[in-house]
Amino acid sequence: MAHRIWSGHCLPGRSKRQCTAAMSTHTPSTDRPTITLEAPLARFAASYSIDERVPSTVPGFDAPFFQAGLAGYSDAAMRLVARRHGCPYCVTEALLDRTLISGGKGRTREDPDILREECGLGEPSENRLHGLEDHPVAGQVMGTDPDEMGRGAAMLVELGHDVVDVNLACPVKKVRRRKRGGHFLVAPEEALVVLKSVRDAVPDHIPCTVKMRRAWDDTPEMALNFDRIFDGVYELGYAWATVHGRTVEQKYVGPSKWPFLASLTERFPDRIIFGSGDIFEVGDIFLMLQQTGVHAVSVARGCIGNPWIFRQARQLMSGETAAAPTIAEQRDALLDHFRLCTALHGEVGGSRMMRKFGIRFSVHHDDAETVRKAFIRVKSAADWQAVLDRWYITPQS
Ligand SMILES: Cc1cc2nc3c(=O)[nH]c(=O)nc-3n(C[C@H](O)[C@H](O)[C@H](O)COP(=O)(O)O)c2cc1C
Repeated sequence: MAHRIWSGHCLPGRSKRQCTAAMSTHTPSTDRPTITLEAPLARFAASYSIDERVPSTVPGFDAPFFQAGLAGYSDAAMRLVARRHGCPYCVTEALLDRTLISGGKGRTREDPDILREECGLGEPSENRLHGLEDHPVAGQVMGTDPDEMGRGAAMLVELGHDVVDVNLACPVKKVRRRKRGGHFLVAPEEALVVLKSVRDAVPDHIPCTVKMRRAWDDTPEMALNFDRIFDGVYELGYAWATVHGRTVEQKYVGPSKWPFLASLTERFPDRIIFGSGDIFEVGDIFLMLQQTGVHAVSVARGCIGNPWIFRQARQLMSGETAAAPTIAEQRDALLDHFRLCTALHGEVGGSRMMRKFGIRFSVHHDDAETVRKAFIRVKSAADWQAVLDRWYITPQS
């Protein structure tokens, strides 16, 4: 008997808006699980075409969604797995300008505490491009000093990134104290100097973009700050801003304010604007496009352990039924991700990193809780293989 799946994905803080976006049905056993959107949303998805300005700015960015920067997750391994499932464009996690300038690998990190524990930021080597497949990719730079930000941005171009994205959004307390990331939403003039320095340092043919929150907090003064920076972004020649509909103070708590995104696209119909926040399953992508008018949707927590969200989005855009992953597909993706991750981080680092991905992948399994617990116990490549052999075997394997 068919039953709804993923109702458990209605995370705390999610509004009913997202929880009802997709009527998902799962037919266990031999049938392929499918995801069905409510009819008007399905029609919207099937008739949607990406704004031509997006692929003409970044060739290859051919669908209205992408993988967001996710510190501690969105390394080259995760990006490649996403691309193999239909993701057209990825952003690296935020990289500190100083780490970039100092050469990354083998050099001292500026502040190991922030990098490792607080923000999960890595060295540039962790984001190194894994062959030609990992394009188009935006390198995201974060820092304080305009000159260093410019030099860090230029390094990203040297490393082969196709786009430079400036982080004015990170809400982590230590980052804010050091006047980086979301801090700039209280200091619009400083933000504009940084943005200019980056744009000037990056060759004209490389697009620059910005990631920002909708404000520092909900006061009228901070709303004006947002407007000042947002206007400056486009005046300085930035291609687009990705706006996360939460305030910096909100961090990740409470809903992302989609009506704010809708008001932006209404006020500025000529600007390319991307949206972020509360994208947990494929229906949310089209709901955000429909409700806000943004030109592309940033998929963040919704794609951790769920690269199929990209394939499903493409299926829905082709008017097909979107398919949830079979056990065999889950096994293939897990193996692929594991191989790439250990290639990047070594067996010990890769196995450790893959525990958290395994836990996220487990939600697709029929016996999710048992599989989740099995991934929690994984310490080595052998343990990893044992979980796959025990829980991801199909008659065809
Ligand atoms: C663990 C984690 C790490 C993140 N790291 C970054 C980052 O490095 N750069 C960035 O622009 N946004 C980062 N974000 C923010 C996400 O890209 C996204 O804007 C946010 O999670 C809201 O989207 P969601 O509610 O759909 O997850 C991070 C979010 C999380 C949860």
